[in-house]
Amino acid sequence: MAETPPSSTSHPGNLKYIRYDHSLETKYLPAIRALISKDLSEPYSIYVYRYFLYQWGHLCFLALHPTTEDLIGVIICKLEPHISHSPPTLRGYIAMLAVSSGYRGHGIATTLVKMGIEAMTQRNADEVVLETEETNIPAMRLYERLGFLRSKKLHRYYLNGSSAYRLVLLLKNAEGEEDRDFDAEGMALDEDEIS
Ligand SMILES: CC(C)(COP(=O)(O)OP(=O)(O)OC[C@H]1O[C@@H](n2cnc3c(N)ncnc32)[C@H](O)[C@@H]1OP(=O)(O)O)[C@@H](O)C(=O)NCCC(=O)NCCS
Repeated sequence: MAETPPSSTSHPGNLKYIRYDHSLETKYLPAIRALISKDLSEPYSIYVYRYFLYQWGHLCFLALHPTTEDLIGVIICKLEPHISHSPPTLRGYIAMLAVSSGYRGHGIATTLVKMGIEAMTQRNADEVVLETEETNIPAMRLYERLGFLRSKKLHRYYLNGSSAYRLVLLLKNAEGEEDRDFDAEGMALDEDEIS
């Protein structure tokens, strides 16, 4: 699907935000793949998208051009029990987020992330986590502005050898939350890392 540059009739404030639904696969999955793979060194296979969208399509949101309905932005999430916590917690995960380059800096990703967080909160998520490349300043700023904290540095996490941060947003005032320990770099430690 062709990328439409912003114009007076397509102010980012006028975009349509919709929840993904399986009936939209034919219309939007190719555009979702194209948008996300543009900024990836290693494109995901179609099965990766289907893994997320078949099970958690209700946690995927699209930003669409108001008239052409071209895809402008997308967020893909999942929500699963995190069994290494005792008692198990419900952990949301932001797997993919992308906004078409001509539309960046207008709050579109912020809106999509808030929609994802809201959908996971409604489904009783305890926390939302994600990984982002340490050099991805726009993504780091976006998530930290929304309250995400750095929980772990993942050295050489990506295939291209670059490192990542795991970020976490705590959604509940779980007991002990304010007692989280921090490492030397001021990052919160996972419970299973605390000796
Ligand atoms: C990271 C990415 C998703 C951000 O998308 P975006 O739509 O530009 O993000 P936003 O507009 O919500 O936020 C970006 C900036 O615009 C600012 N902004 C928010 N609303 C705004 C508005 N109405 N008008 C102008 N600027 C606005 C935000 O304050 C933010 O500034 P910051 O640098 O201080 O955080 C986008 O750069 C992208 O697709 N990158 C490639 C893929 C990627 O890296 N994905 C993340 C992987 S984890």
